[in-house]
This record gives sequence, C-alpha cells and structure tokens, in this order.
Amino acid sequence: MEKLMIAGGYPLKGTVRISGAKNSAVALIPATILAESPVKIEGLPDISDVQILKDLLEEIGGTVEFSENDMTVDPSSMISMPLPNGKVKKLRASYYLMGAMLGRFKKAVIGLPGGCHLGPRPIDQHIKGFEALGARVTNEQGAIYLRADELCGARIYLDVVSVGATINIMLAAVRAKGRTIIENAAKEPEIIDVATLLTNMGAKIKGAGTDVIRIDGVDHLHGCQHTIIPDRIEAGTYMIVGAAAGEGVLIDNVIPHHLESLIAKLREMGVQIEANDDQVFVGPAEKMKAVDIKTLVYPGFPTDLQQPLTSLLTGAEGTSMVTDTIYSARFKHIDELRRMNANIKVEGRSAIINGPVQLQGAKVKASDLRAGAALVIAGLMAEGVTEVTGLEHIDRGYSHLVEKLNGLGATIWREEMSKEEMEQMKNA
Ligand code: EPU
Repeated sequence: MEKLMIAGGYPLKGTVRISGAKNSAVALIPATILAESPVKIEGLPDISDVQILKDLLEEIGGTVEFSENDMTVDPSSMISMPLPNGKVKKLRASYYLMGAMLGRFKKAVIGLPGGCHLGPRPIDQHIKGFEALGARVTNEQGAIYLRADELCGARIYLDVVSVGATINIMLAAVRAKGRTIIENAAKEPEIIDVATLLTNMGAKIKGAGTDVIRIDGVDHLHGCQHTIIPDRIEAGTYMIVGAAAGEGVLIDNVIPHHLESLIAKLREMGVQIEANDDQVFVGPAEKMKAVDIKTLVYPGFPTDLQQPLTSLLTGAEGTSMVTDTIYSARFKHIDELRRMNANIKVEGRSAIINGPVQLQGAKVKASDLRAGAALVIAGLMAEGVTEVTGLEHIDRGYSHLVEKLNGLGATIWREEMSKEEMEQMKNA
C-alpha cells in the first residue's frame, strides 16, 4: 500500500491537460451493454473506476479492448449474469448496470453499490423509475433484483433531482415501448454526454440538459464511436490548485461554461481567471478574500468541488462559510485540515473557515475521493511535508495526479507504506 508525499510551498507554473470525465465514463461504459455491435469510447480517464467497470463488462461476457484511453466494447455475446457481490460493491456507479441490463435483457441482479461515504445515498428514485417502466424490483440480501416482462414508457417525476436516477432511467427507457418523460431531471453535462452516446447508438432522446427529458423507445441500438467530455471536476480541482499555489497555471481541454459557478467564486475571492474556448488560465496566487459557498445541483456550485475549495479558503482573509445542501456528511476532510493548522469548525451542514492561516505539513488520511483532492491542495499550500494515506480513493477519480502535478513543478511522490504504518492505519 502506498502513501502520497507532498513537499509544500513550491510555486506551480505551466500547463495541465484534463482527462475525460469520470462521472460520464462510469455511465458511458455500462451504456455500451445496450448496443448490438461494438461501441468505441475515446478519451477515457486512467482511473480505477474505469478498470473495474471494464472487468464487470467482461464478467458478463463482453469483449473489451482498452488501450491508452480508448475502449472498444463488443456487447454482442453479453448475458444477464447476476452480479450480487464482488466488484460491483467497489464503486457507486455500478448502479448504471441496473438500467443498462434491464433495458437490454429485461432482467438484472446487481449488488447495492459502494462508493464514497458522504451521508445517506439512497437509490429510491432509480427504483421508482424502473418500477414506473414496468419492472418488479426487490432487495434480497443486499442485491437488487429487477425483472420485467416488457418495459413500457411512462411519465416519471423525480422527487429529488438526481444525476444517477436521471441517467439510469434514461438507460432503461431507450429500450422501452413508447414514450418516457422524466420530469425534474438533473441537468449536469454528464447527462448530455450519455444522451449523446445513446443518440449515436440510435436512441431517440430530446431535452437532455433541461429538466424535462423525452425518450421514445426503439427496438435496436447499434455500435458507434463517441468522444467523452472533459472532466469538469478535475479541471476545477486544478483551477483551485492554481489559485492555491500557482504562478500562472493553464488548464487545457476544459469546457469553461461547465465551470461558471467556480470561475465566479474564484473571481469573487480575487483570483485572476481568463477563459477561452477550451482553456482556463489561473493567474499568480495573490491575497484572497473569504467567500460563502452553497452547493447546489448544476449549474449551481458543485458539491464535488466543495472540499477542494475549503482548503483554498484556509488561505483567504476573513470568515468563509461552505454549506453542502446535497450531502449531509461531506466534511470528513475538515478534521484532517485541522491537523494541518486550519481554523475550521463544522456546524450542521456548514463549515466555517477563518483565515488566513499558514497550513503546516502533517500525516493525514483521505476518507473519500474529493477529501483526497482537498488534502493534496492543502499539502501544496503547507509548510513542510504532508503525508496522505487513503490513496485508493484518489486513484478512483484523478488520472495521473502525481505526474500532472510534478509537470507543474510540484514536489510530490508516492511511497510504499511500512508494515508499522499499515498496522497503525488499520487500528485508527
Ligand atoms: N438521492 C436520493 N434518492 C435517489 C438518488 C439520490 O435521495 O434515488 C439524493 C442523494 O442522497 C443526494 C442527492 O439526491 O443527496 C443527489 O444525488 P445524485 O443521485 O445526484 O448523486 P449520484 O448520482 O449518486 C453523482 C456523482 C457524484 C456527485 C453527485 C452530485 C457519479 C457516479 N457520482 O452521484 O460524484 O457528487 O452526482 O453531483 O456520477 C464524485 O465525483 O466525487 C461524486 C461523489
């Protein structure tokens, strides 16, 4: 097992290229199940979630070629193999296998998904959607059993705006008979990306990216080629890195429109940002002002950038308040930031940050993916050396993090943990 070592305080400069979007990738890969001939997805990120989904497609009989960042899936010999245990539990997005397998085979058995612990993460809206389409859904010993004689289009109003439920219902509905209307749908760019792939496969979808999506079911879907969108959360993370420790960082392969809420907040803090077609330049870090942030569904401020931004705010003058309205317990990074000398307290769903403070290197643990990003940013800002454990979380979502940061001039490396350290971690 490895840990991440960061020698803080080195100014960062240069260009960093953003990878394909994790939260698109984890839906696009299961979506290939719905086709009857090979689908090629280009530009996938090199992250463990993608590897696990590749293995799962192979487990159900798919032929998958994956080289560099391109994956070709031949789904023709897939079968509706039950997946109640094993790798499905390693990631949240394995729930997309439910919608895709239900759409293609009219049945599926999928273990309840894993993923980051951010407070309760129910999937009741996914199930409500599948049932509305005509599926019988039961939970037996921690696995979801789905079965339908046929799927029929329906009008589905989501009680909670959910990215996962919107995509999952779309995946099943493209092969249902008749029209499905999803109301109060989520509008995230990843939903448009998945709808674009499905449309290229022959699906009939209108309104993706708005809160009403209309899907007319079809009998067959065919292979195609698709290029994934850039990862807006990875891009946002590097924008925050640039603001935290940069002397001019250019973020390449980004859609600035996807990050308007972050750009506005960074500008409010006094960070110099210039955006053009597919690049964002973050100017040299200067004196920053405190700001308040409330996470919201897209196009509001993304919950996934709340934790990285909290680290930056420790260096801003004044009191900032970060409120997460999406997840109730996405504050596990705060105790770790305190170990690094941050002045933060948590009250209910808000973190109150008093700054500026000079962060100090410490031994800290990433409890989830974006907490990991927050601690890396804090490590880059800190005096001295920071050791981050829990790398398996970071590896789920950040492609070549160490290489990309070293490319900007950071001093960061992976190191094997000693037996004693691993023992201490287990007992912590
Ligand atoms: N919710 C329900 N019922 C449901 C579904 C969701 O109550 O059936 C609630 C959730 O508990 C949460 C809110 O609705 O409070 C939003 O959840 P959503 O379904 O939108 O989240 P998700 O699809 O499970 C995706 C991303 C998350 C990201 C959220 C919000 C993937 C695989 N995950 O999760 O990404 O935080 O949308 O934008 O796409 C990350 O990348 O670090 C990450 C956690």
